[in-house]
Amino acid sequence: MSATAISTPNIALIKYWGNRSNELRLPAADSLSMTLNTPTVEITVDYAEDLIIRSYESDGAEREMTEKHMARFAKHLELTRQYLTQIGAEDAIPASVQLTIRSGIPPGVGLASSAAVFSAVAKAYVGLIASSIILTDEQTSVIARLGSGSAARSIFGGFVTLENTGRNGMDGAVAKQVASEDHWLLHDIVIIPSYDEKKVGSTEGHAIAQTSPHFMERIEAIGSYRQKDCIDAILAKDFEKLQKVAEEDSLNMHHVMETSSPPLQYLTQDTHRIVDAVTRLREEGHLPVLYTMDAGPTVHLLCTDEARMQIVDFAHAQEGCTIFEASVGSGSKIIQK
Ligand code: DP6
Repeated sequence: MSATAISTPNIALIKYWGNRSNELRLPAADSLSMTLNTPTVEITVDYAEDLIIRSYESDGAEREMTEKHMARFAKHLELTRQYLTQIGAEDAIPASVQLTIRSGIPPGVGLASSAAVFSAVAKAYVGLIASSIILTDEQTSVIARLGSGSAARSIFGGFVTLENTGRNGMDGAVAKQVASEDHWLLHDIVIIPSYDEKKVGSTEGHAIAQTSPHFMERIEAIGSYRQKDCIDAILAKDFEKLQKVAEEDSLNMHHVMETSSPPLQYLTQDTHRIVDAVTRLREEGHLPVLYTMDAGPTVHLLCTDEARMQIVDFAHAQEGCTIFEASVGSGSKIIQK
């Protein structure tokens, strides 16, 4: 018995930063992202006596699993079993499994893989237990979230929220689709200035977010207008509105990061140079393009189809950078069970 699932990363327009429960990865605020169509991660889950994880890079090389990685997958499996028990599927999933991860994420591009990995793991688990219980995509998003908060959003295609449900348990936040991948063809032209392994990963960052004096202000802004403005902009395909709210939110998240203790400085001089240059290009050419940065120096340029060629040319003109191109994608899928 085995199941295989495939998934992709997503790029957040309203960022998830900070939890109300670190253990359950319950976010302090709602967030919203666009699921990408590439790169893909494929994961097979099999029954096994002990937890075994084999992870292969896009060039086929096996990646060594650190103890920290192993512990994260073991914890995720334990939480998944608890969640399944809660929804009436006790013992649907075995106490240990073998996971085979085949990542199509090019090494060194600095694209976060945890969203693609844990959404694929969640889908593969759901495929494995399909003869005992059928889970909805929202329930699947809970399993993904228990491994990595942003992974919940990659369960769905198109434009997706991660929303607090008002409950405090494992189902305290679920992903929901705002609009499918057919709604609006947007591209993400990714400019990677340098690739250094992050000094402070997102998990550690979320845990100190509330030490920033600007954290509560951020949570309130998302709750009172930003998330809503972003949803409205997407539904109306209003790029200018999307640009304003997404850039405001990305810069605001970095302000919270930079004022937490210890302060987290993910943006570099290269990031600022690229942001300034794209802002000038946008003003001169009236181009529908927006920038957004996650927990790293990488600049994501989201643009409409009409602006794509100019943005791709702009990206390739940035010296010493690696460029990666993606578009809106269709979310995670079970490909074999
Ligand atoms: C800045 O989902 O990577 O990319 O739950 O610890 O895996 P973990 O955190 P993660 O956090 C994402 C942070 C972000 C913003 C976002 O994607 O919303």
